[in-house]
Amino acid sequence: MIKDQIKKEYKLKLKALKKHNKLYYDTNKPIITDSQYDKLKLEIINLEKNFTYLKNENSTNIPVGYKASKSFEKFKHKVPMLSLSNAFDKDDLINFEKKIFNYLDTKKKFDYSVEPKIDGISASLTYINKKLEYGVSRGDGNIGEIITENLKTIDDIPHLIKNDEFPNEIEIRGEVFIKKKDFFKIKDNFANPRNAASGSLRQKDPEQTKKIPLNFIAYAHGFIGTKSQNSQSEFLKDLKRWGFKTNTENKVLPNIEELIKFHKKFENKRFNLEYDIDGLVYKVNDMNLQSRLGFTSNSPRWAIAHKFSADSAKTKILNIEIQVGRTGALTPVAKVEPVNIGGVVVSNATLHNEDEIKRKDIRIGDIVKIERAGDVIPHVIEVDKTSRKIKSKVFDFPKKCPSCGSNTIKEYNKLTKKYDAVRRCTNDSYECEKIAIEKIKHFISKEALNIDGLGKKVVEKFWELNLIKKPQDIFNLNYPEIANLDGWGKLSARNLENSILNSKKITFKRFLYSLGIRHIGIENAKLISVNTKNISNFLKIVSKNQIDKFLNIDGIGETQIKSLNNFFSNKKNLETVIELTNILNIQSEISEKNGILKNKTFMFTGKLDGISRAEAKSLIEKNSGTTLSNISKNLDYLVVGEKPTKKKIDQAKNFSVKVITQKELIKLIN
Ligand code: IVH
Repeated sequence: MIKDQIKKEYKLKLKALKKHNKLYYDTNKPIITDSQYDKLKLEIINLEKNFTYLKNENSTNIPVGYKASKSFEKFKHKVPMLSLSNAFDKDDLINFEKKIFNYLDTKKKFDYSVEPKIDGISASLTYINKKLEYGVSRGDGNIGEIITENLKTIDDIPHLIKNDEFPNEIEIRGEVFIKKKDFFKIKDNFANPRNAASGSLRQKDPEQTKKIPLNFIAYAHGFIGTKSQNSQSEFLKDLKRWGFKTNTENKVLPNIEELIKFHKKFENKRFNLEYDIDGLVYKVNDMNLQSRLGFTSNSPRWAIAHKFSADSAKTKILNIEIQVGRTGALTPVAKVEPVNIGGVVVSNATLHNEDEIKRKDIRIGDIVKIERAGDVIPHVIEVDKTSRKIKSKVFDFPKKCPSCGSNTIKEYNKLTKKYDAVRRCTNDSYECEKIAIEKIKHFISKEALNIDGLGKKVVEKFWELNLIKKPQDIFNLNYPEIANLDGWGKLSARNLENSILNSKKITFKRFLYSLGIRHIGIENAKLISVNTKNISNFLKIVSKNQIDKFLNIDGIGETQIKSLNNFFSNKKNLETVIELTNILNIQSEISEKNGILKNKTFMFTGKLDGISRAEAKSLIEKNSGTTLSNISKNLDYLVVGEKPTKKKIDQAKNFSVKVITQKELIKLIN
């Protein structure tokens, strides 16, 4: 009898715990305090301890956390959802096109598909056998959240495709947005239409999503099961045929001149549209060229967003502060009298660097015109010198690092034969406070350790409290102390502990990137990690002072070597890296690829025919090969183009490297 009662009580408590877990993790709306939660949990543990039959019968350990994430299940996009690079003027567009011509090694003209850039949030819809199976948010571009039921409430999104030519499997991408007139009705609840769309889509309950009228316009595909269309404009027509809404303003234009004319016209027209747009998207229309051009790590080479001109306002510079960045760059920031620019209150504006201040002669006390465009940091465009007081003084840019007092320098660029516009602290280490804190922020960021619950603000707070001064301190936190901090609690401290624990397993590439060494971004980290394979090889090279060896890696040059040498010549930095290596579980770089050129290395000499070096290199990489920039016994093939360097061919022969032509390379691949 008593046993039954105890079982009943136990089950009720367990049910309550599950409910509160869900409320906390899933909806973000706990209804009991942390200590009430802990008490409940302790009661369950005690019951289990005292009445062992409970645990066996339920065979459930106490659930910790409703789900890994605070809300939605995760989904890995088959093809990443990247962003677009921005153009603001004709020069940016000419530069964009020039890069394309170079990459394709051609001067042949091509058409552009022009599409309004709706300011909403993107979503990816996976259809399998014509049925909508998953609707996913962009997330970090690689992993999004499954919000299928919410997306299904949008009328523009078909659940079932009726058209016979629809691919068996496809990820349809487009923008979810709210029309201006609908936003007007709910504007008190959200800062802007984009926030409204985003907030509504992330509701846990689809019924809530339904309440805000959302729309969907399709414009791209991710994974596509069948051969894709020949052009973007054809694809847009197909989308329409399949039952999706596409933008009625889409157009095909032949060249930059026409793009600019259209953009000018559209700058006024945008105000008459039913929805907000913040620019136009230009895409190389030919899909074959698109696939040749491919992607950089952040964005496609074949598309760009041409933003509309920004809003601006006049205000007064109250002070000029110098921020020290992760790589030691001294960035001047103007603190200005708060001013409303296009709906956003601005009180800071970047002054970019020392040269910019000199060039525009920007001074404290000046009245300046500040511009703000979309997500770009506000900046000063001109100084009103007529309103300047006689006693105003030229701004004296500090020559010592304001954080650690070290010397600062402007580097000389051998290529451009000019001094850098940016002044830098020479102490690229954890010894300079400001650099250290920025390095830690980088260390925990999304592409690095990606620690949930440890954002930039928390890092700053923990820095102030002396809890984190070096990256390795993150793994030695005092959680009971954190639980007692304002705004924390046992539960949040425990969550942080979990995510820090989870972050310990990291790929070698991400680890290298996480160190925040200047010029070692994710792409270069990848090159080095693939080449050295694991952290111990890497550390051997570093500790033997053989960083120059990396010059052999195609893509790594003097600049990267200098920066690596600079970083590792500082003992504290090396110590930190070694300590981290002991704490973390750094996964060796194993190539998941199994292409035909796996384990083969290539080098080029001479000009190739109809293809740029960059494209040839990415072709080799697509087939799992690697390219080197020096001849050694590690090289398998030297690909010879027009006018090759004879010395390289001789050297290759000495090392018994196979010397092949471009045609022979293509043959290897096909
Ligand atoms: S193409 C890889 N087309 O702009 C190509 N994007 O900064 C990526 N957007 O996240 C997208 N209208 O949310 C594309 N017609 C359009 C677009 C568009 C709006 C948004 C989208 C994307 C962002 C890129």
